[in-house]
Amino acid sequence: MSHTNYIDKYSNLRGKHLVLLCLFTTLPAMAKKPPIKDVKRVAELRQQIEGHNRLYYTQATNEIPDLEYDMLVKELESLEEKHPALRTPDSPTQRVSGAPIEGFETVDHAVPMLSIDNTYNHEELQAFDERVKKGLDGDTPEYVVELKLDGVAMSLRYEDGVLSRATTRGDGKRGDDVTANVRTIESVPLKLKNNPPSLLEVRGEVYMTTKELQRLNAIREKEGEALYANPRNTTAGTLKLLDSKIVAQRHLEIFVYDIAPLEGANIVSHDDTLKRLSKWGFTVNDHTTKCADIDAVIAHCDGWEEKRHTLDYETDGMVIKVNDAAQRQRLGATAKAPRWVIAYKFPAEIAQTELLGITVQVGKSGALTPVAELAPVQLAGTTVKRASLYNFEDLATKDLRIGDTVEVHKAGEIIPQVLGVVKVKRPKGLRKFPIPKKCPVCKTEVHKDPDGAFLRCLNLACPAQVKERLEFYATRAAMDIENMGPAVVEQLVDQDLVKDPADLYDLTVEQVEDLERMAAKSAQNLIDGIAQSKTQPLHRLLNGLGIRQVGGHIAEVLADHFQNLDALMKANVEELVTVHEVGEIVAENIVDFFHTPENKKLIQRLQDHGVNTTAAQSNTTGPKPFADKTFVVTGTLENYSRDSIKDRIKELGGKPTSSVSKKTDYVLIGDNPGSKAAKAEKLGVTILTEKEFEAMAKG
Ligand code: IVH
Repeated sequence: MSHTNYIDKYSNLRGKHLVLLCLFTTLPAMAKKPPIKDVKRVAELRQQIEGHNRLYYTQATNEIPDLEYDMLVKELESLEEKHPALRTPDSPTQRVSGAPIEGFETVDHAVPMLSIDNTYNHEELQAFDERVKKGLDGDTPEYVVELKLDGVAMSLRYEDGVLSRATTRGDGKRGDDVTANVRTIESVPLKLKNNPPSLLEVRGEVYMTTKELQRLNAIREKEGEALYANPRNTTAGTLKLLDSKIVAQRHLEIFVYDIAPLEGANIVSHDDTLKRLSKWGFTVNDHTTKCADIDAVIAHCDGWEEKRHTLDYETDGMVIKVNDAAQRQRLGATAKAPRWVIAYKFPAEIAQTELLGITVQVGKSGALTPVAELAPVQLAGTTVKRASLYNFEDLATKDLRIGDTVEVHKAGEIIPQVLGVVKVKRPKGLRKFPIPKKCPVCKTEVHKDPDGAFLRCLNLACPAQVKERLEFYATRAAMDIENMGPAVVEQLVDQDLVKDPADLYDLTVEQVEDLERMAAKSAQNLIDGIAQSKTQPLHRLLNGLGIRQVGGHIAEVLADHFQNLDALMKANVEELVTVHEVGEIVAENIVDFFHTPENKKLIQRLQDHGVNTTAAQSNTTGPKPFADKTFVVTGTLENYSRDSIKDRIKELGGKPTSSVSKKTDYVLIGDNPGSKAAKAEKLGVTILTEKEFEAMAKG
């Protein structure tokens, strides 16, 4: 395996793509005692790997080349594989482990996680200073000023130096136990160094860099999915994912800033807290400054108002804390927030600019979206020239007219939005923007969705839609045709070479070679890629066809159920709704799609070209004791991971599904089953243990 492949596959533990699939729960127990030399080597490797991780996270430096580092990880993995007894939960190989969970448990915080009061201007900061001084009977406080990190607050509990629990803030008294997800965060140490107290709770902020958000959005864009709006919401959403393997693929980070005052915490000052946190191996934010008085605090805060845009993560203000722990004690707290700390929020990021024009984009299902074309304006560190207007109803409500001065808002959002118009600045004679009656591209009359606010071009041959659909057909989520990006699609459609996916299979190397920026080699690659796509399984084709509301998951469900396209095409709404997870609207969309003459012809032509229309088959031809039986799996199984049990069920003719209903035939339960087991019982669905399942599988 090449270096890069290796890194991609094993996902370098230093914060690139960590996806280590070490399911220690699924390995057969091996009782053999490991030899002492292996025990020693494992300890040595862990120490080295952790040392490198720390350097990487706290100082952003590599002491050894990636490949060398990967070799250490690989050696550790293989030793742990050989001796499962050595694979302890704090091993750096164990950041991702276990099957997806059913939900989060709510747990009590040992010490409540209070919030902080906000200030928005200099006067309010001065008033805070007055209150502090009064509370200290005239003593002078020293302040520590930090960045207010715009992420998700997290409490990390360590017992004997080992991470035992990670909890979200929740309502301050109780939060969600998100340990499995937080373990995947590289900058969260699984094991502390330099003698931490035996019980420790640390608080910090989990966040996502703007670069990481852009990386995720680039993938989403390619796959035709809606983009994430901002790093904070994406972080919150990621922490709530039930499958920690997906969390590991999105590279979250953490900065810690506090130690909970548990017994033995011995907090002297904030200064000292931060030093101790670093010493134990945590990542502490560098931009922390001590200020002797409130004037220095204010000057420092002002300095960051612009400078924050140079950071690779979002901050929405500063946090000002009294440094001395004894003084903090004297100040105490209200029911809501401590009196020794205050947040200073930067003014919201709103800019005014001229609305130069409104363009109308046509999506792959024909939806018309207005986009504001703006006079370039600086906003939250970037130049904004376009902003989303969502739909025409929104545009009409805001009464935006070309030539207006509009307010654009970004406050952490990556996609800028037009907030509204500054009416007092409206020049005379501006006209309302007409709601389009025709598609801007193909000029066909547009229709309003009966169930929504969108205007839609219903002409399937509309070049804008054709391009969008072809682009989607080629994405990784669909037929995965390499080298067929937007620029190629644009030319193929504009030069009348392709109108629908079936036309792709008629293309010749000579035709493609003539396109701009194509050479003989790239033309051949494209044609090969197109030919290759003929063998893709049915669910990819179904996703690629762009049937409304049939995304990747429903496409899989349909392919699994019907096994081939002909059977699906013959199904009526009544039959479709009997399929688990297929609702009435989706069923109607499917029937409409396959009853449209153009689509029927398209399918026929795809079949004539030899495009596969059958579902992916498991490669075993053994007996099918569970033919057509639907399964829901809940809890941790002894011999299977989440994915492998699904494969096993399919292999035996059954269908794995995700939620329990009356239609479910069996619920297979493992250890710690979730609410699904109770639901199954209530609905009278047969519950199987793993043993019973195996016995039935063997007939
Ligand atoms: S100190 C009791 N320091 O802001 C005080 N909080 O709006 C504990 N936050 O809940 C918090 N950066 O999630 C502190 N440097 C920082 C912070 C910070 C971000 C968050 C934290 C808090 C929220 C309040």
